[in-house]
Amino acid sequence: MPVPFFDIHYRLDQEGRAEVLEKWAAVLDHGGFIGGPEIAELEETLASEFGLGEVVACSNGSDALVLSLRAAGVGPGDEVVVPAFTFFATAGAVARVGAVPVFADVDSESGLLDTASVVAKVTDKTTAVMTVHLFGRPAPVGPLAEAVAASSGRPVPILEDAAQAVGSVGEEGPCGALGIAAGFSCFPTKNLGAAGDAGFAATRDADLADRMRSLRHHGGQNYLHREVGFNFRMDPIQAAFLLHQLPKLAGFQEARREGADHYACLFADAGLGGKVIPPADAPGHVFHQYVIRAENRDGLKAHLDEAEIGSAIYYPIPLHLQPCFADLRGAEGDLPACEKLAGRVLALPIHPGVTSSQREEVVAAIAAFYS
Ligand SMILES: Cc1ncc(COP(=O)(O)O)c(C=O)c1O
Repeated sequence: MPVPFFDIHYRLDQEGRAEVLEKWAAVLDHGGFIGGPEIAELEETLASEFGLGEVVACSNGSDALVLSLRAAGVGPGDEVVVPAFTFFATAGAVARVGAVPVFADVDSESGLLDTASVVAKVTDKTTAVMTVHLFGRPAPVGPLAEAVAASSGRPVPILEDAAQAVGSVGEEGPCGALGIAAGFSCFPTKNLGAAGDAGFAATRDADLADRMRSLRHHGGQNYLHREVGFNFRMDPIQAAFLLHQLPKLAGFQEARREGADHYACLFADAGLGGKVIPPADAPGHVFHQYVIRAENRDGLKAHLDEAEIGSAIYYPIPLHLQPCFADLRGAEGDLPACEKLAGRVLALPIHPGVTSSQREEVVAAIAAFYS
């Protein structure tokens, strides 16, 4: 039986569909299509549910990162250290504010930013480091800040790309509340997904939050503009959908964790030795993706495609090797862990709608490939 990589339908049963339609009807009725009351309600709920300080709802996760960077004062002439093994938007956001992304290597197992590599990349021009809670696993923030400050002799702000880590609480606390500001994505496939594009920024600093709110609306209010900002507003129909989904999130997170535990048992039983390395669990991991490292990954993916089992490669080309960053002169061999991971990673179906028999099918197909 086919196993889809992702299927959005787990989000809404018939009852849920009716509830969302009711919330959307309320938006049609009040007519506040821009900045309606759902936005403030969502911001307050997200902040209190996730322990995030202040939340600024916006158009998507990429724009949330841009808001965080701009509010933190990052701009032309600045360098921001980012991992090269992440979704494009992490570095894209840095380039969009006119700063230079400086690519660092990652831990070869977790894929999280490697502190020693960051320290080696910090220069006098570094104004921030953006770490990524990759695949939903909390990345260290405090220890990173300490190491960078110790080596550079000054504090360097840490920003968090928490696009994949909504609701994750690691050993240090809630992802998105650890650095000076963070960006989250509510892209439909994310753990907390909207019915289209949406995202939010978070910070515990009231001045930064004010600036983000202003930047979200062209850097001003009442036709008086303090600076040039953007139109990064979230639509109330997305906020209404997210408010519907929020109470269900704990159950969805639990289902992802159970799925990950089940895969781990299945892989242990399959005895695939070093051919498949399942992802390690970690406190607060919300398994936005379940990413294995596999020998002959491309052959395995072709085999799974043939068996109609969905899988995906996150991410096939590290960012220092992307054509749009060619002027930064990244070359093969610069960041060995990023490059090695790009050739080995394979994400398996992990969304809350995946059944245990589907997971058994996935692992059986993988075992058959290597036998
Ligand atoms: C790590 C990471 N950063 C940023 C983003 C950007 O989020 P959005 O697609 O909502 O713009 C994503 C979304 O895929 C992501 O995975």
